[in-house]
Amino acid sequence: MSAEITREVPMTTAIIGTGVIGSVIARELASGGETLRLSSADHESARTLAAEMGRAAVVAADNRDALQGAGAVVLALRFTVLKAVIDEIAGPLADKLVVVPSNPLTTDAQGNVSRVLPEGQSSGEVVAGWLPGAARLAMAFGTLSADLLESSGNRSPESAVLFYAADDDRAGQEVERLIRTAGFEPVKAGGIKQSGRLEVGGDLHDLVVGPAEARSWIGAA
Ligand SMILES: NC(=O)c1ccc[n+]([C@@H]2O[C@H](COP(=O)([O-])OP(=O)(O)OC[C@H]3O[C@@H](n4cnc5c(N)ncnc54)[C@H](OP(=O)(O)O)[C@@H]3O)[C@@H](O)[C@H]2O)c1
Repeated sequence: MSAEITREVPMTTAIIGTGVIGSVIARELASGGETLRLSSADHESARTLAAEMGRAAVVAADNRDALQGAGAVVLALRFTVLKAVIDEIAGPLADKLVVVPSNPLTTDAQGNVSRVLPEGQSSGEVVAGWLPGAARLAMAFGTLSADLLESSGNRSPESAVLFYAADDDRAGQEVERLIRTAGFEPVKAGGIKQSGRLEVGGDLHDLVVGPAEARSWIGAA
């Protein structure tokens, strides 16, 4: 078989939201060979990021267009705009992996951060109820703050772990591929009901550990 035939075809992921965390996720996925379709509210941040990444990324015409040809979408959006964007792209979301890093927080005009959900309710549980039935949800890429996510990718000799939560086995396999592409070792924290452990205030949040320590944290719950 020729090298041409055996060469892996790049996989395509849409990233909607190219702010602080979306940009880091995009750079890490692109460095692992993922092809990206980017979208943001006014397109400016998506254009700037795409220009920096060259052929790895294109700017989509809008949020729905970002999903064209993509097997997965990362919704790197503030919790308060997530539902509106999910409603806007609900049709094309069916049969895709939907990766959500959002913490259930909002920031007021004075910069004060507060929860938008009651204590004990995770953004994963709420987002699961907003998605069309055929979409596959994984809560991931929101466990580390952007600077930690940026500095921990492709760590050696031992990869850093990114925890994720998913109910669906296929979603788990797909998000594990994305996490490895981004330069991390995936470790499942549990189903969507356990996703609060990944969020701000959860015991797995901002934890930079290798696989053995990560598994002991999972077992300790
Ligand atoms: N920042 C972190 O360290 C961090 C870490 C872990 C998890 N998270 C979570 O990740 C989420 C995003 O946080 P962030 O800090 O990256 O926020 P951010 O910097 O404000 O970025 C939000 C992005 O969403 C885009 N956006 C807003 N409305 C949109 C719409 N209707 N359609 C398409 N794009 C839209 C914005 O577009 P424009 O660029 O055009 O304004 C921007 O690119 C939050 O839920 C946060 O809890 C953040």
